[in-house]
Amino acid sequence: MIYITIWRGDFMKLRSYQENDAKEILKWIKTERDFRLWSADRYDSYPAKPEDINNNYNNCKKNGLFCPMTLVDDEKVIGHLILRRPNKNENTIRLGFIIVDDGMRGKGYGKEIINQAIKYAKENLNAGEINLGVFANNNSAIWCYKAVGFEEVGIEKNVYSFQGENWDCIEMKLK
Ligand SMILES: CC(C)(COP(=O)(O)OP(=O)(O)OC[C@H]1O[C@@H](n2cnc3c(N)ncnc32)[C@H](O)[C@@H]1OP(=O)(O)O)[C@@H](O)C(=O)NCCC(=O)NCCS
Repeated sequence: MIYITIWRGDFMKLRSYQENDAKEILKWIKTERDFRLWSADRYDSYPAKPEDINNNYNNCKKNGLFCPMTLVDDEKVIGHLILRRPNKNENTIRLGFIIVDDGMRGKGYGKEIINQAIKYAKENLNAGEINLGVFANNNSAIWCYKAVGFEEVGIEKNVYSFQGENWDCIEMKLK
């Protein structure tokens, strides 16, 4: 009998974002709509360039705790997110810019990177509440966050307009 074992995750780790990751991350975004679902109004124009991401992150780092991270599997870049402290006097950590390689979605990598980020936030950033915001029309992201243990705690109506559509933003908190 032949046993075939598929190992996933042996070398998968969350490491600090490196500026070279930007060009890989941007390859995963194929349309302006997907770009806005991911980044809302954080960037002026689409398509963004790697230096836009790096300049944005360098600016964000000036305003308090801001940790961009990258999920790698044996050095291959497969996911990305940021952790930040929205209020410097609280221990709340907010996740953002969550994304997985578009060729690898639906295989558990979204859950993996978020679970690793939660662990990092608790162990290294003294996280209390962990929260995030997601557009209400981004079903795959909402499903992923619920599968990890986030629950909906609020909704902000019409926070962003995209090509004539008004998008609502769901606020989620880790249970
Ligand atoms: C959001 C994103 C990171 C999720 O990553 P992913 O690797 O596809 O997610 P996973 O494979 O880990 O799936 C997570 C869960 O969603 C569930 N799910 C997927 N489709 C579902 C459906 N139709 N109904 C219910 N649950 C569903 C999966 O079953 C899984 O949960 P389970 O393992 O408990 O069953 C990915 O879709 C992405 O990069 N999107 C583009 C960028 C973006 O919009 N980011 C959001 C910014 S707020």
